[in-house]
Parts: sequence; structure tokens; C-alpha cells
Amino acid sequence: MSTSRTSIQSLFQPFQGAPLSLSNRIVMAPMTRSHSPNGIPGDNVAGYYRRRAENGVGLIVTEGTTINHPAASGDTNIPNFHDEKALEGWAQVVKEVHEAGGKIIPQIWHQGILRSEGQGPHPQAPSASPSGLNLAGEKVSEPLSVDEIQSIVKAFAQAAADAKRIGFDGIELHGAHGYLIDEFLWEQTNQRTDEYGGDLVKRTRFAAEVVRACREAVGPDFPIVFRISQWKTSFYDAKLATDSEQLNQLLQPLVEAGVDIFHCSTRRFWVPEFEGSDLTFAGWVKKLTGKPTITVGSVGLDNDFINGFMGNDAGTKDMDELTDRLEQGQFDLVAVGRALLVDPAWAAKIREGRFDELLPFTPASFGTLS
Ligand SMILES: Cc1cc2nc3c(=O)[nH]c(=O)nc-3n(C[C@H](O)[C@H](O)[C@H](O)COP(=O)(O)O)c2cc1C
Repeated sequence: MSTSRTSIQSLFQPFQGAPLSLSNRIVMAPMTRSHSPNGIPGDNVAGYYRRRAENGVGLIVTEGTTINHPAASGDTNIPNFHDEKALEGWAQVVKEVHEAGGKIIPQIWHQGILRSEGQGPHPQAPSASPSGLNLAGEKVSEPLSVDEIQSIVKAFAQAAADAKRIGFDGIELHGAHGYLIDEFLWEQTNQRTDEYGGDLVKRTRFAAEVVRACREAVGPDFPIVFRISQWKTSFYDAKLATDSEQLNQLLQPLVEAGVDIFHCSTRRFWVPEFEGSDLTFAGWVKKLTGKPTITVGSVGLDNDFINGFMGNDAGTKDMDELTDRLEQGQFDLVAVGRALLVDPAWAAKIREGRFDELLPFTPASFGTLS
């Protein structure tokens, strides 16, 4: 790998974006592990995150962890964020990451219609979605009632309050990839005619209520990150916004509700988002909102993560384009997924210029990662 050591140092400048301060720009992307039997994160989970913190990751975003709603999770091995024992497990994770000098926020999640029906801690509960539609737009269940929507908003807020109480450094709301919050944002899955549906701005109502309820639960100084994506699981060309004007309409209600940082999920961080400009998704979101952004997608690797799920390897790739765009101020933070999954020491190796020691990503290693 040919990245110059001078440019790499821009990744290791401190970040101060009120209310979050970090020792460097490297963020561990949220990655579901399903290694928490009965929803309780144990010592293995604490050790897994501690190893990344010890090796110099600036901020860890945990795997998605589910709110207190019967249809939030379709997998009993996904850690939850409401049972007393699960929260005790998370408190231990926080303690170990902090002892290693790191910072950590949980990714708060409701799986919506992407939950595996009949699976998870409450298999009898029907999966939840705004209009009872799956991501293909097919009717598969009943729309959520307004009462139930409001109980889900409260469950998000409770998770935010618990995150603060047990010592996390903020929260990330999973508003991306076709899960529940995103299903309200996306026209294909939100066909409601009440106050939670309608045009683009009206479709932001649920997300904005979640953000506002979380903000009220944690106060002004506790960081709230919102993860957003144009693409949806299995629908990689989907778009919430087809131009910057639409993107602006979508983002402003979320800013007003209290988002501090946007985590802009793409599969390849360098791809321009709209015609006629070189700006990427994270670049546009930063420009339109004035808020710090996190970029993500194939950092340090030569193949995107969907290719990874399809069983393809990814080799290492230089990082000059990444550091150029970081130095131009297109984004503030850089999330790294698979490279940190296969190699807990990835950040330390990058900082020290040990590029020839970086590990390629192989899907075969998924089951053995620690
Ligand atoms: C095994 C695996 C699990 C993932 N789980 C989540 C998740 O729980 N929440 C989420 O928002 N994204 C999830 N993602 C997406 C990653 O956060 C990240 O956006 C994606 O892997 C692209 O980054 P990369 O190219 O550096 O791997 C997952 C990705 C992988 C590979």
C-alpha cells in the first residue's frame, strides 16, 4: 500500500465537535455480531470492543442493539438494550473501553419489517412497519397504529436515557439501511395518509420524534448521532433524495430535532452523490446541515461489503483519496467496518505506517473473529 505517512496523520488529529471530543478521526462502524446469547452482551463482547480501543480507535459504534419493543429484534443472539442483565453487560463493555482510553456509543435499533418473522425473543409478535409493506413494497403485515408508534418513540428515548445512565459517550440512532426509522423516511415503505406519512418532509416526522424524545431524555450535552443512508438492504440503488434540494428537506427536521452528527452510510465513500458535483453523500450532508459528518464505505479495502457478504475477499487499498477529502473538510470522521473486524490493530498499524502488516478481508474469517 502506497499511502504517504504524512497524509495519514490527518486521521490522527483530535476531533472537537460539540458535544463530542475524540482523540482521532477513526470510528469503528456498527457491525452486528450475534454473539450475545439471550440478548446479553458478555465478557467476549467487552473484550472485542476493548481490543479495538486499546489499538487506537477514536470512537466505537457498537453493533445494533435493540429497543424495548416486542418486534425490535429477530435474533436472540443480538444484544438488547433494555433488560437489566443486558444493560449490566453493556456497562461492563463501557468500563473496559474507557479503561483502554476509548470512547463508545451504542447503535440503537428497531429492525422494522427486516426482522425475521417468527424469530427472536418474541417470535409471536408481528413485524412492525409504517404501512405493513416490505422493502419490495408488498403488503406483508398491518400498519403500525399511532399508539404503537408512540410507544416505540418512548422505547427509543428510554434506551437513550439508559445509555447516558450507564456511562456511554453518546448514542447512534439507526436510521439507515431499510430498518424501521428508514422505512418511515422511504416512500416505497411509507404510504401512510395520516400525520406520519405524505411528502418527504412529512415522512421525517417519526424520525424527528425519535430524535426529539431522545434529546429530551438526555439533555443538550449528550451526543446524538443519526445514521442515514440512501441505499436499503437488497435495494442498493434506492434513494431517499434524488437531488440536494430534497436531501436538504429531509435533513432539516432532523437537525431541528437535535441531531449532533450525521453518519452517512455508503458502500464506497468516494462516489459523488449527485450529478454535477464531486461531493460525496457525507460531503453534501455536512454542507447542507453544517453538522459534522462521518463517512464510511470500503475504507482501506478494494471491494465493498456487499461483495463481502457474497463471499468475495477484499484486498487492502491506499488511503490517499480518503485523506485528501478529509483535509478538504468534506467530512470530519471516518468509519471503518470490515478492516477493523478482521484486525483489531488496524488503527495502530495505520498510525505507525505498518501498511504491509494490514490484513485483507476474507469472509471465511467471519466466524472466528474476536
Ligand atoms: C458483518 C457486518 C455487520 C454489519 N452490521 C451493521 C449494523 O448492525 N448496523 C449498521 O448500521 N451497519 C452494519 N453493517 C454495515 C457497516 O457498518 C458498514 O457501513 C459497512 O460494512 C461498510 O463499511 P466497510 O466497507 O468498511 O466494511 C454491517 C457490516 C458488516 C460487514
